[in-house]
Order: sequence, then structure tokens, then C-alpha cells
Amino acid sequence: MNILVTGANGQLGSEMRIVTKGSADKYIFTDVNDIPGVETTKLDMTDRDAVMEIVRRENIGAIVNCAAFTNVDAAEDNEPLAEKLNSEAVGYLAGAMKEVGGLLVHISTDYVFGEEPYNIPCREDWTGTPTGIYGKTKLHGEQAILSSGCDHLIIRTAWLYSEFGKNFLKTMLSLTSSKPSLKVVFDQVGTPTYALDLANTIYYILEGRRWKGNCGVYHFSNEGVCSWFDFTKMIAEYSGHTSCDVQPCHSDEFPSKVRRPSFSVLDKTKIKETFGVKIPYWTDSLKKCMSNMGVLV
Ligand SMILES: NC(=O)c1ccc[n+]([C@@H]2O[C@H](COP(=O)([O-])OP(=O)(O)OC[C@H]3O[C@@H](n4cnc5c(N)ncnc54)[C@H](OP(=O)(O)O)[C@@H]3O)[C@@H](O)[C@H]2O)c1
Repeated sequence: MNILVTGANGQLGSEMRIVTKGSADKYIFTDVNDIPGVETTKLDMTDRDAVMEIVRRENIGAIVNCAAFTNVDAAEDNEPLAEKLNSEAVGYLAGAMKEVGGLLVHISTDYVFGEEPYNIPCREDWTGTPTGIYGKTKLHGEQAILSSGCDHLIIRTAWLYSEFGKNFLKTMLSLTSSKPSLKVVFDQVGTPTYALDLANTIYYILEGRRWKGNCGVYHFSNEGVCSWFDFTKMIAEYSGHTSCDVQPCHSDEFPSKVRRPSFSVLDKTKIKETFGVKIPYWTDSLKKCMSNMGVLV
């Protein structure tokens, strides 16, 4: 089967490049921009004709959509662009897969929840009301897939980090190495997710054609629960940046354009039971990522 990956130069897309290396399937890695030295087929997902053309030309049987407008704050000032990429263009991918009878694996987010006072892990069939434009447009993307009628796996994930791209882990590695003290919010709770773990799960499902009879919405993050403060404490400890005094604070000490969900822990029972996947605990995966980055002491 020929499998198209969009957003292949982002965090998750880059991990997909690694985990799919031994596959008998042909993976075609696309993105809107090049990274020097990284083979990338150019594809702007917001160009409907270009999407349809590559799907037909390359005889694509599945798409893994790793592309998105992921900057949560910037989305507040760029709603039309966020809507175009996170929703309309997702509809183009879904339409293309519907036309050729293929599968769309789409990555969504814990930010589709937010307004609800949930305090136990969110299940796939619960209602979500996002607190900002990013979450709203990602929810619209999910709805576009559902209304297209294509075969799909919508996998909501959270707090993604990796050795590739920009993320919280890299920011905190830099801050804890350069500052004597740091305040980090402890009133937002979730679960970090190593993008490599998610990529491995997607690959496992695709390799075994395990989506057949199992289309639907799933949740995937690492196991466990923590706040951004706890996450930072572990980053500082595992990197040996222990001279930085990391202290907890409230979200209102860091005014931002958009209110983040205070509790967005995802319940992963469905993906574990349906596909038999074993999900690593968040600190184990954090250590593994930091080891891969060469920053674990
Ligand atoms: N990051 C998180 O914490 C998080 C949490 C929950 C869910 N998710 C979801 O997980 C998925 C993967 O996230 P990620 O962190 O790996 O994203 P990422 O690192 O921001 O990568 C997204 C990629 O998509 C590319 N892209 C932008 N516009 C495009 C277009 N018009 N056509 C094709 N590609 C385009 C980006 O290129 P440029 O960099 O050049 O713009 C980038 O390479 C997304 O669906 C995201 O919503 C992420």
C-alpha cells in the first residue's frame, strides 16, 4: 500500500519517518516546506487540487495527517488560516480518501475539551467545548471527517514532545539551564506524550491493517498524570539542571490570549483494548526521548 504522510517535517511526522523505515508499504513524506537534507515531497494541504492529484498519481491507500496549525496563541489572531488548515483542508484529505476507498489517520487534540468541568480522564464519546480557536478548528476538522463518510482513525493526543521541532521539553531544557529560578503552572493537568510512542502506535495499526472494522475516535497519550510544573521538575532532574529552582504557580501569573483546559487527561482504555497496545508511563518516555537527544544525565 502507498501511504501519504502530511506535515512530515513536524514533530510527529519526523517520528513517522523513523518508525516506518522497515515497512514493506511505500511511505511518501510531504510537507509545505523543506528541511535541508531531508527528502520531502512538497504538498500544501490547503490546495484541494494538489491533494487529489497526488492521491491519484501515487495510488494512495491511506493518509496519516500530521499537519496542523499548532500554535495555540497564534491561532487566536489567525482564525481563517487555522480553520483552513485544521478543518477545511482536513475535509480535502477525507474527501480524497472517500473517493478512493482509503483510510485517513488524523491527529486531533485534548483541546477539543476545555469548558467542561471534567475531573476524571476524558473518554472519546464525551462532549467537548474548546476554550479557543485552535481547539475549535481542530474539532471542526474531526466533524469534517465524520461527515465525509471515509474510513478514519481520529486519534486525539496531548502535550506532544519529541527530539524534533519546537516543544515544551526543549523550551524547559533551555530555561532550566540558563535561569536560577523558574515558575511553572501547576493548575493545568494532563499527560505528556512522546511523539515516537504515538508514531509507533500508528505504524503498528497500519502494518497489521488493524483499522479494518475498528474505525472511529481514539485517545492516545503516555500513561499517568502531571501538571506542567511536575513535567518541568522531571526535565530539570533528568538533565541535571538542578541548580534552577523550579516553583509552582497559577495560570493567571502568565496572561495569555487563550485559556488552556485545566484538566485534559485522556482516557486511553479504548485504544488499548481495541488494538492491544501497551502505552509507556510518561516519565519512562521522557527519559527515553532525553536519552535520544543526548541530554539525559
Ligand atoms: N504539539 C502538541 O502539543 C499537540 C498536542 C495535541 C495534538 N497535537 C496534534 O498533533 C498533530 C501533530 O502535531 P505536531 O506537534 O507534530 O505539529 P508540528 O510540529 O507543528 O508540525 C506540523 C507540520 O505541518 C506543516 N504544515 C503547516 N501548514 C501546512 C500545510 N498547509 N500543508 C502541509 N503541511 C503544513 C508544518 O510546517 P511549518 O512548520 O513550516 O508550518 C509542520 O511541519 C497535529 O494535528 C496537532 O494538532 C499536537
